[in-house]
Amino acid sequence: MLIKNGTVVTAQGQRRADVLVRDGRIVEVAPGLHAHTDSRSLEGGAGEIIDASGLLVLPGGVDPHTHMDILVGGLRATDDFYTGTIAAACGGTTTIIDHMGFGPPEAAGSLIERVETYHGLADGRAVIDYGFHGVIDHVTEDTLAELSALPGLGVTSLKFYMTYDGRLSDEDILRLLVRTRELGILPCVHCENHAILSGLQERFVAEGKRTAHYHPLSRPDYCEAEAVGRVLALAHAAGDAPLYIVHTSTAASLKVAAAAGAAGPLASSPSWFLETCPQYLTLDEALYDAADDEGLKYLMSPPLRRAQDRDALWQALADGRVSTVGTDHCPWNFADEKQRGRTDFTKCPNGAPGVELRLALLHSEGVVRRALPLERMVEVCSTLPARIFGLYPRKGTIAPGSDADLVLFDPERTLTVTHSLLHENVDYTPYEGMELVGWPVATISRGEIIMRDGEFYGAPGRGRYLHRTL
Ligand code: URP
Ligand code: ZN
Ligand code: ZN
Repeated sequence: MLIKNGTVVTAQGQRRADVLVRDGRIVEVAPGLHAHTDSRSLEGGAGEIIDASGLLVLPGGVDPHTHMDILVGGLRATDDFYTGTIAAACGGTTTIIDHMGFGPPEAAGSLIERVETYHGLADGRAVIDYGFHGVIDHVTEDTLAELSALPGLGVTSLKFYMTYDGRLSDEDILRLLVRTRELGILPCVHCENHAILSGLQERFVAEGKRTAHYHPLSRPDYCEAEAVGRVLALAHAAGDAPLYIVHTSTAASLKVAAAAGAAGPLASSPSWFLETCPQYLTLDEALYDAADDEGLKYLMSPPLRRAQDRDALWQALADGRVSTVGTDHCPWNFADEKQRGRTDFTKCPNGAPGVELRLALLHSEGVVRRALPLERMVEVCSTLPARIFGLYPRKGTIAPGSDADLVLFDPERTLTVTHSLLHENVDYTPYEGMELVGWPVATISRGEIIMRDGEFYGAPGRGRYLHRTL
């Protein structure tokens, strides 16, 4: 395959160049390849020339935070690894790293049981390449011993929570971080102070304040920021254990992280990373007051925030304090599962869809409306997720030897987001009605065109498991 006349964008820069692909890998990136490579590329008639005039050629998106087929409280997220990865592909994402749900009580927190179960969910179904983050909800001698087996299974990161039923205590977090540092595993953490949010929830429910309006009030910015500060202190106590903080949503958390960085040896080493998500960059907490209980559509944790938080997150994304954008894609139907929260917001399954719109939102709201450099968009959506999670340079860039995972992106296409346009298997999009500038028009995964003009062309199970290495 030869992709001609496009503007190739990587984290390092952009230039007019052609991209030659053979056997699923990038062979050469240079201007004017057509003259002598066409005949090679088309040898045997098998090759294809794609004219990318007027288009950006981006590395395929690497989404480091999805929850396909996750089982929570007896409910399964509506996208599984087949439908969810089709949606990802149609939005220009060619790799996901999925966060697992907690295991059944009878598995006693086994980390290996989780990996095996997730292979059962993803293998033969995913249409793009995928990896897994492990999950730990019990810190015991057994689970700590199992940790050392994870890298051998291709799992070099794992998540723990500071809230929900599977949360870890500070003592357990410290023990865990000492061990992950020794093993070189990167822990990912959901930061919220459980006592604050559960105490506020209890109070609101007792007072009859049960609509979605009270969801953000029960999880104020200091609820997240306190947990961010605490976990960074625990990481410091564990010998500056590397750490990745998922879905950062507030200016308060950025302040706490900056203070932790300035206070100790953390300042001199990039031992921790912050992720944010498109919903925290683009949506507003006023949506919880939408008519007809539509606020439930946005019931996710942490909750949507205020304009000043969004501004602070964009600034931090631009200047490097926030490293990645993941979607936290975790869809539930509004007409069905989300209705559980109609008479009590605390009963609503948490999470929202978003895997398909990440690149378009970052381009439109970031590059076009906030002058985020295109190179930085590529860096936070592809290159850094790949680097941080052990997939670079196979994924996350456009260079000889890398997998030919590419997105042809029209930076001028304007479009109004509507649910029927998307492939996510859920009955709404949180971004309904948003006017976007820029849209992915083709997605190539390991040299195969799997999306063109919104149509998906790929077989179930064509995605490969990414056995990550330390
Ligand atoms: O509300 C959310 N974000 N649900 C998904 C699970 C998580 O906390 O990341
Ligand atoms: Zn979370
Ligand atoms: Zn999540």
